[in-house]
Amino acid sequence: MENNIKLSEVVGSGKDGRILKEDILNFLEKQTGAILPPSPKAEMMPPPSPPKPKDKTVPIPISRPPVFTGKDKTEPIKGFQKTMVKTMTAALKIPHFVYCDEVDVTELVKLREELKPVALSRGIKLSFLPFFVKAASLGLLQFPILNASVDEGCQNIIYKASHNIGIAMDTQQGLIVPNVKNVQLCSVFEIATELNRLQKLGAAGQLSTTDVTGGTFTLSNIGSVGGTYAKPVIVPPEVAIGALGSIRALPRFNQKGEVYQAQVMNVSWSADHRIIDGATMSRFCNLWKSYLENPAFMLLDLK
Ligand code: COA
Repeated sequence: MENNIKLSEVVGSGKDGRILKEDILNFLEKQTGAILPPSPKAEMMPPPSPPKPKDKTVPIPISRPPVFTGKDKTEPIKGFQKTMVKTMTAALKIPHFVYCDEVDVTELVKLREELKPVALSRGIKLSFLPFFVKAASLGLLQFPILNASVDEGCQNIIYKASHNIGIAMDTQQGLIVPNVKNVQLCSVFEIATELNRLQKLGAAGQLSTTDVTGGTFTLSNIGSVGGTYAKPVIVPPEVAIGALGSIRALPRFNQKGEVYQAQVMNVSWSADHRIIDGATMSRFCNLWKSYLENPAFMLLDLK
C-alpha cells in the first residue's frame, strides 16, 4: 500500500506462492532501479531474474502536496476558511457524542455497478453518495429528532419538515457544505443529478447562497479521499452529522459461518447530546444500515 503496488502483479516466492517482503523489494527494485537494503533472508535467496524484454518500467504514482520552502509567511484567514473558523468554533459549544458502526455494502457496490452506466447514459455520474443520502432521508422520516435544531437558550426543538441534506465537499477554496434540498421528495437519480450540479459549481467556486444555506442534516464522505474512521463535527444549527470511511474489501462471515469477501464501510455519527441520546442514534443507524446492506429494502419505502 505504501508504494501503490498491485499484489496481483507481484510473483510470490514463498510457500504456495505467498508474497514475501523480498518479493516486494525485488519488484520495487525492478520498477524504480532503486537499490534497496537487502533483508537477511533476501541475501540467502537467488538473485532476481533479469527483466524480460516485454517488462516495462512503470512510474509509481505518488501524489504529493506542493512543497513549501523559503521564509515564513503570514496570510489572512478569509473566504470559506473564515466561515469554517466561525462554524467550527460555534460547533464546539455543542456537547457531541459519537456513535460508530460498520456497514457491509457488498450488495450496494454490485447494484451501483449495474446502475452506473444507466445513469451515465442520461448524462449523470452515479457515485455511492446518492444512496447514502436517500437512506439517511428514509431514516430521518422515522427519527425526526435528528433533522431538527435547538433554539437559543435550548428552550425548544424545531423539527424541520424538509430533509435538506448537506454534503461536505473538498474544493479548491476549502471545505464547503452545500445541501440537496427536499431529499424526502427525491429519487436516487434526482439526488445524483443535484449532487453532480453542486459538485460542478463547488469545483468552480460558483455555489449560490441558496445552495449552501438551509441544511438540516449532513453527511461527510471523507472515504472518497481516504481513511477508515473520522469523527465529524456538527454543523450548527443542525444536530447530527455522519462521516463515511473508505469502502474496503475485507473478510467477513456470512450467516452460514463461511468467510466471504465483503465490501465494508465504517460510519461515525456525531449528535447533539443535549437532545439526542445514544440509543436513538443507534436505532437510526440500524435502519440506515439496513437500507444500504439490502438496497432492495429501499424500494418498499421509495415514493
Ligand atoms: N469508499 C470508496 N470509494 C468511494 C467512496 C468511499 N466511501 N466514496 C466514493 N468513492 C468512489 C466513487 O464511487 C468514485 O468512483 P468511480 O469513479 O468508480 O465512480 C470515486 O470514489 C470518486 O468519487 P467522487 O467523485 O469523489 O464522488 P462522491 O459522490 O463519492 O463524493 C464529494 C463527492 C464531493 C463528497 C467528494 O468529492 C469530497 O469532496 N469528499 C471529501 C469530503 C470531505 O472533505 N470531508 C471532510 C470534511 S471535514
